[in-house]
Amino acid sequence: MTDFETILLERKGRVGVITLNRPKALNALNSQVLKDVVAALDELEGDAEVGAILLTGSERAFAAGADIKEMAPQTYIDMYGTDFFAGWDRLANARKPTIAAVAGYALGGGCEVAMMCDILIAADNAKFGQPEITLGVIPGIGGSQRLTRAVGKAKAMDLILTGRNMDAEEAERAGLVSRIVPADQLLDEALKAAEKIASMSLPVAMIAKEAVNRSYETTLGEGLRFERRVFHSLFALDDQKEGMAAFVEKRKPNFTHK
Ligand code: CAA
Repeated sequence: MTDFETILLERKGRVGVITLNRPKALNALNSQVLKDVVAALDELEGDAEVGAILLTGSERAFAAGADIKEMAPQTYIDMYGTDFFAGWDRLANARKPTIAAVAGYALGGGCEVAMMCDILIAADNAKFGQPEITLGVIPGIGGSQRLTRAVGKAKAMDLILTGRNMDAEEAERAGLVSRIVPADQLLDEALKAAEKIASMSLPVAMIAKEAVNRSYETTLGEGLRFERRVFHSLFALDDQKEGMAAFVEKRKPNFTHK
C-alpha cells in the first residue's frame, strides 16, 4: 500500500483501512488530507480484493473540522475558483461500502465526512457538531443537507444555529449513528462489521448501497422501480446462484464476486 503524508493506509483481509493521521491538529482536514484520502480511495476501489472501506481517526479526534488555519486567509474567489471542498464528493460517491469509525471529536468537516460514509459507528466518547457558525460561516461539505436528512430539521437547526456538540448517545437517539461501542473496542467492532460486509458478494453489496442511496435522491415510486429492476438484474450474477444454492445445500456460500 502507498505511504501518505497525512493518513495511514492498510489492508486487513478484504477491508481497506484509512486512518486520518494529523494528531497535532486533531486531524483537521486540509488540502493534503483531501488529496491523500482521494488517492487512497482510488487505490482501494481499484483493488478487486477490497470489499469494504473503513475510515477512522484517533481516540481523541476523528477530525476536528476543516483546517481553519488554511481557510482563514482565503478570499471568495479563492474558494469559488477552486470549488473548495468539492473534492470530498469522491468519498460520498465511493461505490464500495464505507464505514466511519468515530471516536472523539467529529466537528464541522469531521462530522460531514463521517456522514458521507454508509455506516457510522461511534465510540462512547464521540462528539458530533457543526460549529461553523461560531467561525462566521456555515457547513460547507454537506452538513446542512446530510445532517438534516439524518436527524431531522429540529435537531439540525439546533446544532447548526447554536454550534453546540452532541454526544454519542444523543447522536444515536437522533439516528445519526448506527451503533455505539466502548472507545477501546471501536476499531475491533468497526472492523468486524466491515469484514462481515466484505464477506458478501461485492457487486451485490455495491448495488445494495446504491439502492439505499437512491432513496435520498428520488420519489418513492421511482425508488421502488429502481430497486425492482436492480433486484431482477442480480439474477445475472454467479453469486446469486451460489448464495441460494448454499442455502438449499445447508452450507456457507463461497462468493466469487461475479
Ligand atoms: N483547524 C485547524 N487546526 C485545528 C482545528 C481545525 N479545525 N481543530 C483543532 N486544531 C488544532 C488547534 O489549533 C491546536 O493546534 P495548536 O496546538 O498548534 O494551537 C490543536 O489542533 C489542538 O487543539 P486545541 O488546543 O484547541 O485542543 P482542545 O482539546 O483544547 O479543543 C476542540 C479541542 C474543541 C476540538 C478545539 O480544537 C476546536 O474547537 N476546534 C475547532 C472545531 C471547529 O470549529 N470545527 C469546524 C471547522 S470549520 C469547518 O469544518 C467548515 C466546514 O463546514 C467544512
